[in-house]
Amino acid sequence: MKTQVGIIGAGPSGLLLSQILHLHGIRSVVLERRSRDYVLSRIRAGVLEQGFTDMLRAAQVGARMDREGQIHEGFDIAFGGKRHRIDLAALTGGKTVMVYGQTEVQRDLFAARDAMGGTIITEAEDVTPHDVAGAAPYLTYRKDGSEGRIDCEFVAGCDGFHGVSRKAIPESVLKNFERVYPFGWLGILSETAPVSDELIYMNHERGFALASLRSANLSRYYIQSAAEEDLAQWPDERFWEEFRRRLPAEAAAKLVTGPSVEKSVAPLRSFVCEPMRYGRLFLAGDAAHIVPPTGAKGLNLAASDIHFLSRGLIDYFRKGDESGLQRYSEKALARIWKAERFSWWMTHLLHVFPENAGFGERIQRAELEYLVSSRAALTSLAENYVGLPFE
Ligand code: APR
Ligand code: PHB
Repeated sequence: MKTQVGIIGAGPSGLLLSQILHLHGIRSVVLERRSRDYVLSRIRAGVLEQGFTDMLRAAQVGARMDREGQIHEGFDIAFGGKRHRIDLAALTGGKTVMVYGQTEVQRDLFAARDAMGGTIITEAEDVTPHDVAGAAPYLTYRKDGSEGRIDCEFVAGCDGFHGVSRKAIPESVLKNFERVYPFGWLGILSETAPVSDELIYMNHERGFALASLRSANLSRYYIQSAAEEDLAQWPDERFWEEFRRRLPAEAAAKLVTGPSVEKSVAPLRSFVCEPMRYGRLFLAGDAAHIVPPTGAKGLNLAASDIHFLSRGLIDYFRKGDESGLQRYSEKALARIWKAERFSWWMTHLLHVFPENAGFGERIQRAELEYLVSSRAALTSLAENYVGLPFE
């Protein structure tokens, strides 16, 4: 098979790229290791920046999001038992975020690709990029016991943190930057009314907690936990008890509990690889960087990568202008590092760090008190949370 752009991975990065390219008359093929059902069963992020929602609308996949998603004009930070509202709209000249699950974004992207005749090959095993440093790269894979080959002009590595694309870049070229945090997030999804209409990020002596939501009857709650937890040790009752203890009292009194419909633990990590281009291979999304979830930036960064990459590819195929592709890595990384800094900062602001006992705890409390008392500090938080500009 021959195409213009071979895309590895059908997560939000890969599907959004193939959709945008299609709308500009550029052909692509997406190769995905998992089944579609598996991809659609993953519970991931849920807060979309305005820049991302604009991109989804422009890519003709925003209609259901606009009907079913919730616009949030603020969120709360709680510490010392008190809630403090961060008025995003007032602090940013009217900017807001959209609460709409990544799972739903994936569903909308699959539907749009299907409707437009897009080629997505799922359950593709052993996907391997070849000759990406040369003029004629190609991908090989196995499906149902037979071998497939896709010749393409460019390869987009959208295959997440554990994918093959990053590994196709020689070690002598690639530089990795990493910080692993000494804890994880234990999360549950439950078909109960959310404890708050807006998100509550909680700093508590027993550890961080987050009250988030997907809809009026679907709550997403997290507690700071060990990086690797045995979920068998966390029956729902234990989760609810621990979560309730970390909520401010008036919220705890309103908490509605019920059976979890999903429960998982995610370790926290910051990671960036540089550069994001090697020859005709371009990395995007989690394949190139990871943020801890505290700032809700993972999915949004994938979107800004696809913004830069799709523009570079469109300029190349429509006008023969290579400058966007040449500057892709530099432009994407400039925005990525700012989101890395913000996610790292919010993680430090809100979590219990075992090594911080004493002095570090007092500094953290001082920072929280300063934050909620200073319009300048709040403005910095708000402008990062709603998303820095793409350019
Ligand atoms: N071959 C083919 N597909 C692969 C391979 C491989 N070797 N390895 C991984 N994949 C697929 C995964 O199964 C997954 O569907 O690539 C896809 C990568 O998707 P994501 O991990 O969702 O990454 P991305 O599309 O960059 O989305 C960004 O933002 O909220 C965060 O981490 C969260 O998923 C989210 C991400
Ligand atoms: C979520 O709803 O899953 C969520 C929300 C905000 C975050 C992280 C995760 O910062």
